[in-house]
Amino acid sequence: MGTKGRSIVGMDVDELLALLNRAFADEWLAHYQYWLGAKLAKGPMKDGVIAELLQHAADEMRHADLVSNRIIQLGGTPVLTPQDWYKHTNCGYDAPEDPYVRVLLEQNIKGEQCAIGVYDALAKKTRDTDRITYELVLPILNDEIQHEEDLQALLEDLDLMVKRQ
Ligand SMILES: [Fe+2]
Ligand SMILES: [Fe+2]
Repeated sequence: MGTKGRSIVGMDVDELLALLNRAFADEWLAHYQYWLGAKLAKGPMKDGVIAELLQHAADEMRHADLVSNRIIQLGGTPVLTPQDWYKHTNCGYDAPEDPYVRVLLEQNIKGEQCAIGVYDALAKKTRDTDRITYELVLPILNDEIQHEEDLQALLEDLDLMVKRQ
């Protein structure tokens, strides 16, 4: 922990750490949801959907890395066990029980919309109190917004294709 680095945070650091750990748990669950969905996906446009899910899986793991670095900088400990992801998560986990591409897309759009809300709230909370976390959160928020768009565009294409056949 950097003590001076921690001391310049203008909000309750333990509260901030709790929020970061919630986001951290979300990222791992999102990573796994995408990663497993990509393995199981079936249906029209499968290849395009799988490529997108794998890209997102990699992005979510990168986000977990970024968030965990900030947790450690602030003297916290990233959630230690997968069991605890469930205790901390905001957005939960949707098992890809139905591997049809449309269902997977809808599940993951829901997850992205939750993530957008989480990072938007974190950005608002840290904008005037912790510029380092704020600057960390903005590009992640941008990624989640792009993820939502990517998935909704795929869903649109899928529906068009099914309708026109
Ligand atoms: Fe993410
Ligand atoms: Fe995402």
